[in-house]
Amino acid sequence: MNLSNKIAIVTGSGRGIGRAIALKLAEVGATVVVNDIGDVQPLEAVAQEIGAMGGQSLPILADVSSSSDVARLVEETIAAYGRIDILVNNAGIARDQLLLRMSEEDWDRVLNVNLKSVFLCTRAVLRHMVKQRWGRIISIASIVGIVGNPGQANYASAKAGIIGFTRTVAKEVASRGITANAIAPGFIDTDMTQRLKEEWKQELKRQIPLGYFGSPRDVAEAVAFLASEEAGYITGQVLNIDGGMAASWL
Ligand SMILES: NC(=O)c1ccc[n+]([C@@H]2O[C@H](COP(=O)([O-])OP(=O)(O)OC[C@H]3O[C@@H](n4cnc5c(N)ncnc54)[C@H](O)[C@@H]3O)[C@@H](O)[C@H]2O)c1
Repeated sequence: MNLSNKIAIVTGSGRGIGRAIALKLAEVGATVVVNDIGDVQPLEAVAQEIGAMGGQSLPILADVSSSSDVARLVEETIAAYGRIDILVNNAGIARDQLLLRMSEEDWDRVLNVNLKSVFLCTRAVLRHMVKQRWGRIISIASIVGIVGNPGQANYASAKAGIIGFTRTVAKEVASRGITANAIAPGFIDTDMTQRLKEEWKQELKRQIPLGYFGSPRDVAEAVAFLASEEAGYITGQVLNIDGGMAASWL
């Protein structure tokens, strides 16, 4: 795999899965715009790691649920590099609560950060990809969006929405040399899953045929493949990376 001369944006790449994706894409030669919300320090740390590998990167703070922030993220990328080849829609949050107790605010925030952001970022980069007649859109969904999960009606709805969105975009832009795919991770060791109670983690591991949580790197390897030239005939797909977890349910 060689992504030299490719420009990638990875949303939510200050930590966790996004960070691993940014590092992997840089390792195979891409120039990576790293994005997150809030504090610039984690983003600068990722940019430094990429620099230490001899790679190129640009940290840009932006809230991907805001259309003006997304417009700026894309404008600054174009100003710096003149093109965008790869978009990884990774930024996401969870605000878990059983449906009867779920607030409208938690519903809206999770839908905005996890799903509206995917619409905003994809729409903004597509203009450039269509002109280039080449592009790769990879969105991080979740197996929860396929099989559901108690306490995550907002999150599961957003992730299921990403899957429908991805299949639609794939069909709309296939003739322009652009592919769109989703990845549905199971349980991956990050801050998001570290909050789970130990007992619940042990129970989940019993439901995973491979018997352990995945690492951010497991997701990053698949993203790099889907972003590559070699994956050009793969579009509109959802790839589960879950240690076999969903295989026993679907
Ligand atoms: N960890 C898992 O088990 C798991 C499983 C399935 C799917 N996912 C998905 O993978 C993605 C990454 O998850 P993670 O586990 O690395 O989580 P994480 O919480 O460690 O990282 C998420 C990153 O997104 C950033 N972010 C949040 N809101 C943002 C916004 N509005 N704009 C820009 N950045 C924002 C956060 O600051 C953080 O750096 C998410 O979409 C998540 O839903 C994770």
